[in-house]
Amino acid sequence: MTVLVTGAAGRIGRHVTRILRASGDPVRALVLPDDPGRAWLAAQAGVEIVEGRLEDRASLVPAVRGARAIVHLAAALTSRGGIDDEFFAANAAGTYHLLAAIRDSGSRPDRVCIVSSDAVYWGGGGPAFSPVDETHPRIPASVYGATKVAAEELALTFQRAYGIPVTIVRPSATADAEELIDPDGVFGSRMWVASAIRRIEAHRAPSAADRELLAALRPHADAGPALYLVADPDGRTAISTLNDARDAAAGIVGALRHPLAVGEAFNIGPAAPYAEAELLGHLGRRLGLPVVTVTLEGARPSWIVSSAKARAVLGYAPERSVTGMVDEALAARGEAGR
Ligand SMILES: NC(=O)c1ccc[n+]([C@@H]2O[C@H](COP(=O)([O-])OP(=O)(O)OC[C@H]3O[C@@H](n4cnc5c(N)ncnc54)[C@H](O)[C@@H]3O)[C@@H](O)[C@H]2O)c1
Repeated sequence: MTVLVTGAAGRIGRHVTRILRASGDPVRALVLPDDPGRAWLAAQAGVEIVEGRLEDRASLVPAVRGARAIVHLAAALTSRGGIDDEFFAANAAGTYHLLAAIRDSGSRPDRVCIVSSDAVYWGGGGPAFSPVDETHPRIPASVYGATKVAAEELALTFQRAYGIPVTIVRPSATADAEELIDPDGVFGSRMWVASAIRRIEAHRAPSAADRELLAALRPHADAGPALYLVADPDGRTAISTLNDARDAAAGIVGALRHPLAVGEAFNIGPAAPYAEAELLGHLGRRLGLPVVTVTLEGARPSWIVSSAKARAVLGYAPERSVTGMVDEALAARGEAGR
């Protein structure tokens, strides 16, 4: 069956595409005209590329036509430097355009999997309860999170109004292993002092939390390469959940295919939470870098998301750990350097 994957050229989309192709499903990939991941997709057998933009409904019609299932990953992301207007246009209005294109094309996919985010739960303070499961209130403290709530609600409304079967998945923060050792990448800026300073200084609209982080990091800017660990004023460092993109993709495809997933939402997280102090310590030892601790009033509290429902219903079985991802990426870099 042809599966349309929006955002197929992105971090998670490539793994979703690989998994679908490995089980023989033809993939139709929706890509932006200037998408940097396009060359990778073009080299995959059994992948048809369709150019389109979520903001442009007419461009989505040929993409949805005849698709037996749809995985909707394309979005503007906070970690890619997106701003509120872009989140609204791509994630809220764009998801509406995709759903309306399905409705108007006469296609009747067996399933539409909407990839949301655990940002829907993040109200700014600590969680209402922990671990955060699917019954946690959705009280986003970011426009990005609000656009994901909007996308979820639009999809469920299209299911009720037009009989389009949908499934919602809410991944935790998700990285490729090599991103954990790349100072210049999205995740490097959460760990390398110099990279965080560069990212925040370049951002068009840095948040209050980012401005506080920038002020705390600047005194360390000239001390040579270093990693940073965030502590709250009581010296506590956080426990968090971070997915390997391969695990997240397996969870998404599992949700797409499972008959009991219609109308349901699933958190898709890692095998176990990790301590940020453990990850930074491990990375520092492996790279021979010091780790400085910065104290922030606005330090993000521990954030532990439960994937128990996905494990029980879908058989979701994430395999990787953050320290294992670091080791794997360093081994791959060593191999590549030989
Ligand atoms: N990576 C994470 O930490 C994380 C965590 C939770 C949820 N998610 C969600 O998972 C999905 C995939 O994320 P990812 O990490 O692979 O991100 P990514 O940025 O690597 O991929 C997103 C893809 O969407 C495409 N895209 C962006 N705007 C578009 C538009 N207006 N029209 C068409 N295509 C557009 C991009 O070109 C890219 O290929 C997103 O919906 C994201 O919100 C990601």
